[in-house]
Amino acid sequence: MPYIECKQVVKVYKVGDHELVSLKGIDFSMEQGELVAIIGPSGAGKSTLLNLLGGLDRPTAGQLYVDGQNLLNFKPHELAHYRLHRVGFVWQQVERNLFAHRSAIRNVTLPMMMGGLAPWKRNGHARDLLTAVGMSDHLRKHPGQLSGGQQQRVAIAVALANTPPLLLADEPTGSLDRETSRQVMLLLNELRQKFNLTVLMVTHDMEIAEYADRVLTLRDGALGQDLSGGSDDAALNLDPEGRLQLPQEVRATLNGAARIAVEVRPEGVLLRPESEEHDETEALLQEMLPQDAAPIKRGLFGRFRRKSGGGRR
Ligand SMILES: Nc1ncnc2c1ncn2[C@@H]1O[C@H](COP(=O)(O)OP(=O)(O)OP(=O)(O)O)[C@@H](O)[C@H]1O
Ligand SMILES: [Mg+2]
Repeated sequence: MPYIECKQVVKVYKVGDHELVSLKGIDFSMEQGELVAIIGPSGAGKSTLLNLLGGLDRPTAGQLYVDGQNLLNFKPHELAHYRLHRVGFVWQQVERNLFAHRSAIRNVTLPMMMGGLAPWKRNGHARDLLTAVGMSDHLRKHPGQLSGGQQQRVAIAVALANTPPLLLADEPTGSLDRETSRQVMLLLNELRQKFNLTVLMVTHDMEIAEYADRVLTLRDGALGQDLSGGSDDAALNLDPEGRLQLPQEVRATLNGAARIAVEVRPEGVLLRPESEEHDETEALLQEMLPQDAAPIKRGLFGRFRRKSGGGRR
């Protein structure tokens, strides 16, 4: 049985007189220990889905199972227990993750206190968690004294305070630079092994998503293509806008080419870089156009030539 199972999950928000369908019947499942990334444009419904799985909101229709239990059948006190002990949440809004007036260690002990952990166990456990996220030198610092990446590390420690088996992270790297984002992803991977965590994270960034076992695309409230790596089709990568992404090695070969010829051959598709100088027809057309011709006009010629020139782009 999968660890997470969403069946036809629908979420409708009422905004004034009209209804806004944020999720349009989501079906997906996750195994225990998996790290899955959800990628999709702004407004796609990513945070909505995470909020539902975190027990912070209820779907309008559908079923949500976590660890074999139907979240919708939980009574209020069971839901409160679920939120405190069974799931850790890293919010999209960085400032929402930590209390500014509490030190790093006191941010981590807070959920422990709410979860009823014995007082003498809290400091030691919080220190262990902050060490696991590489923050052992900053235990007494307040969020304002930490960098963005350090704050997100503390936020992850807070989310793991009551050793939940599931971590939901909404753009944990959203406000971080590339190198810090990479470090946070390596950390998430390390923590999931250490604590046998199942991790579902949201990102806008395909490069960050590549640290996941599986990548799901969400667009307009509906799940799209599974961009999982590992299969033979991994080279066929679509970005969130639905554009084909070429592998880095191919891009490196084609870089600098003025144009690229595309030929469909029986053995596959051939992409051939061509330099502008060799293209006599193009040169002729360029000369015929006045130097200050609007780009659109040049573009039209290009398009016309492409059609008649047989599959060029
Ligand atoms: N509480 C709410 N009330 C009304 N509409 C909402 C609410 N929360 C989300 N929505 C709407 O639902 C849609 C999905 O929102 P959601 O926050 O899930 O998007 P997202 O994919 O997380 O986007 P982003 O990448 O910008 O964070 C949006 O159109 C949003 O305006
Ligand atoms: Mg969001």
